[in-house]
Amino acid sequence: MKKILILLAIALGAAAGAYVVSSAVNREEKVVQPISFNHALHAGKYKIPCMACHQRVMMGDRASIPNIEVCGACHSTPMKKTPGELQVYQYVSQHKQIPWYSIYHVPDYVKFSHRRHVGIGKLDCKLCHGDMTQLTAPPQTQFLQIKMQNCWNCHVKHHVTTDCSHCHR
Ligand code: HEC
Ligand code: HEC
Ligand code: HEC
Ligand code: HEC
Ligand code: HEC
Repeated sequence: MKKILILLAIALGAAAGAYVVSSAVNREEKVVQPISFNHALHAGKYKIPCMACHQRVMMGDRASIPNIEVCGACHSTPMKKTPGELQVYQYVSQHKQIPWYSIYHVPDYVKFSHRRHVGIGKLDCKLCHGDMTQLTAPPQTQFLQIKMQNCWNCHVKHHVTTDCSHCHR
């Protein structure tokens, strides 16, 4: 009962804030990453597995976005000296973290686990993130929008629970 009341409270709060939320989703500004990372090159052409960089995806809630500890394995010396490679090399050689921006987020009151979906459920990343091996620049928008309806529809399709308390805290 307490949980339902909390959810109702969220619903009322969300109705009042609905305009703000949707304008944040349909934002016009371009996402500018510190480095224009190329998935098509790394995960496509060079076939580096997703898990080699997103190292927590099988065991954690969050997939994690790799930083200089991962990039440094290959970029601790500049390769062909293209501007992009020099940029990563500078972060790595100066031991500075790359301030990535993340576009995929669930709100605090939602429980989502990559381990559950990818590690246990064996779902393909593509279902939620599209074919990342085709992207030559960082994604600008969520492929499958993080909306309750989208979670719900897939759960119904796979005969997984739609009990409120499983997705909400
Ligand atoms: C060489 C390391 C590397 C590999 C391999 C890699 N990624 Fe990434 N990924 C990154 C970096 C760095 C970012 C942050 C910059 C960006 O958005 O492009 C990122 C961002 C993402 C994002 C966006 C996250 C957000 O919230 O903005 C998704 C989704 C993603 N990767 C999925 C994948 C998938 C799926 C694969 C395998 C097909 C993959 N990645 C392979 C390094 C990698
Ligand atoms: C397993 C090795 C490997 C890892 C790990 C790796 N890269 Fe690379 N990266 C490469 C290779 C190979 C190239 C291409 C060299 C070429 O052909 O010019 C490259 C090229 C690049 C370029 C230049 C691309 C362009 O379009 O000019 C950038 C920028 C880059 N990497 C960023 C990163 C970042 C950021 C990370 C860490 C999240 C990372 N790389 C991790 C192997 C790697
Ligand atoms: C069932 C849908 C789904 C699948 C399958 C999925 N993701 Fe995600 N991904 C999400 C959601 C939802 C978020 C936002 C999570 C959050 O805010 O905690 C997210 C966030 C991310 C992020 C952003 C940063 C982070 O630390 O979470 C990356 C990177 C990512 N996913 C990579 C992957 C990779 C790689 C795979 C496949 C191995 C994958 N995802 C499979 C739904 C999915
Ligand atoms: C499969 C996962 C899932 C289930 C099951 C689920 N929700 Fe959600 N819910 C979400 C996600 C993700 C969000 C945040 C994204 C959004 O607002 O659409 C959300 C948002 C909400 C909100 C915020 C208001 C809004 O729509 O923006 C309320 C209230 C809510 N859920 C109530 C419920 C209730 C009541 C139930 C049970 C009948 C339920 N949820 C079941 C995933 C789920
Ligand atoms: C592409 C399909 C798909 C999407 C989209 C999806 N899920 Fe799931 N989800 C699954 C499947 C399949 C499982 C069962 C995995 C297993 O345990 O085998 C699952 C399991 C779960 C569980 C564990 C359920 C339990 O039994 O306790 C939670 C919580 C959950 N998902 C939340 C979410 C939320 C929140 C979202 C949206 C942000 C979401 N899911 C989106 C397919 C999906």
